[in-house]
Amino acid sequence: MPATTLDQLVSLCKRRGFVFPSSEIYGGLQGVFDWGPLGVELKNNIIASWWRANVYERDDMEGLDAAILMNRLTWRYSGHEETFNDPLVDCRDCKSRWRADHIKGRCPNCGSTNLTEPRPFNMMFKTAVGPVADADSFAYLRPETAQGIFVNFGNVLATSSRKLPFGIAQVGKAFRNEINPRNFLFRVREFEQMEIEYFVMPGTEDEWHQRWLDDRLAWWESIGIPRERIRMYDVPPDELAHYSKRTFDLMYNYPTLGYEEVEGIASRTDYDLGSHSRDQETLNLTARTNPNRDSTARLTYYDPESKRHVVPFVIEPSAGVGRCFLAVLAEAYDEQMVKAPPAERIGAVTDALDAFLKSVGRSEKLAPETRDALLERGQAIREGLPETMPQIETLLAMPGADQIELGKKLRGQAQGLIDEYFRTVLHLKPHLAPVRVAVFPLKRNHEGLVAMARDLRRTIQTGSSFRTVYDDTGAIGRLYRRQDEIGTPYCVTVDFQSLEDGTVTVRDRDTMQQVRIPASEVRAYVGG
Ligand code: GAP
Repeated sequence: MPATTLDQLVSLCKRRGFVFPSSEIYGGLQGVFDWGPLGVELKNNIIASWWRANVYERDDMEGLDAAILMNRLTWRYSGHEETFNDPLVDCRDCKSRWRADHIKGRCPNCGSTNLTEPRPFNMMFKTAVGPVADADSFAYLRPETAQGIFVNFGNVLATSSRKLPFGIAQVGKAFRNEINPRNFLFRVREFEQMEIEYFVMPGTEDEWHQRWLDDRLAWWESIGIPRERIRMYDVPPDELAHYSKRTFDLMYNYPTLGYEEVEGIASRTDYDLGSHSRDQETLNLTARTNPNRDSTARLTYYDPESKRHVVPFVIEPSAGVGRCFLAVLAEAYDEQMVKAPPAERIGAVTDALDAFLKSVGRSEKLAPETRDALLERGQAIREGLPETMPQIETLLAMPGADQIELGKKLRGQAQGLIDEYFRTVLHLKPHLAPVRVAVFPLKRNHEGLVAMARDLRRTIQTGSSFRTVYDDTGAIGRLYRRQDEIGTPYCVTVDFQSLEDGTVTVRDRDTMQQVRIPASEVRAYVGG
């Protein structure tokens, strides 16, 4: 079963080092996160899968990696200086600030309805380029990667001799000064986007919009997100971005959050190339653009058939890497009871949980919303026992739980049981798993086993594009559990028989079944 709460994922990411709060030792920075050793592997694999599907496996795409800093005029003519705003309100009572469209007229901090009128807040981060901070050195950190593609349209066209339709793909950082970053990786201030700008002949954009919708849904399925877990939202005209004629938002059913946008597929007309072009009056643009007196280029395409210069229309599939990462984790996440614990030990945990919840209910140290959140989660776990036992770890990691003395007793009762009878497993697609293969010696103090296991790890790793690790830091059962929790599809054990006949066991993460095969065949067995 996929994750049911966002906290399960936050807890896993913290426990296993997928994601860390940025600059944590100084108290962190709101809405900014760092990728840990496993997070960076999973993230890179997601990006590689996207790049493979959208650049290598198609014959109509080129790649690009444009700079984050761009001439300020880019953002004037893209429309972002004027329109990249969110509605900001202040709570007059507690002085907190909120995005008006996220709070339904009531301050989430103190409950007051004494709010200011919404006013536009531009979300672009500002900086200065060079030693003197003045009007000439002023620059923005890009809020989307897309504009780097549009301003390079002429360069790519001239150097790649592409014909329409063709696209340019880019993956890179984007920055938005979100008023209220929240929900872990979902809404942050620094994130990565995977964007495609696909250029088509005017008049063919609707057909291509539909084709990209189908292609993108197929990719989401290929990374483990079933079609039925994504809803397509046809964005109504009054919600469309300033450049869009029509947008399909792909909404993933996130735990705790429900259906939220993971990717937008916009039909951007000739707005962007038109906006960044000079001599606009000669280009027969359909989009309304601001007059451009600064650009040195006409971003047009010479159509050999009609012998005319045309401004291509654009289809833009744009996905956030962090939101994709969260969706992949949520979908892959599973807590399984491997065998049923003895009834009396379940009873002891139930009693400890009851006592903990009673103490939470009586606590005067906890703020009401913290207490209610703990009680709500605790009751849900209580009702689902024993299957929900692993969620006790997440409960005890929730804000306020550390202030309840009986939490220690609950942890003491539950931990051993969780370790012995349950496993958390990430059913990640093998091509996304941070580690594809883990190799263990049956005994870590046996020279022959260790040497063979280390050797095998090196052999599997050499020349492969996935990660293979060696581990001997625990008993085999514990090592399996650790690899299950990070989604490693294959665990290879070198045992005494291996020393005699050169075979090893390969355990499958999902079925927990083992096969014995020659060590020399492991590389082929685990795939390319
Ligand atoms: N170039 C079009 C564009 O930027 P967008 O809908 O604003 O469109 C595209 O952003 C994707 O970027 C979103 O679908 C989402 O996945 C991701 N994204 C946007 N803002 C984000 C934020 N503050 N934190 C994390 N991801 C974000």
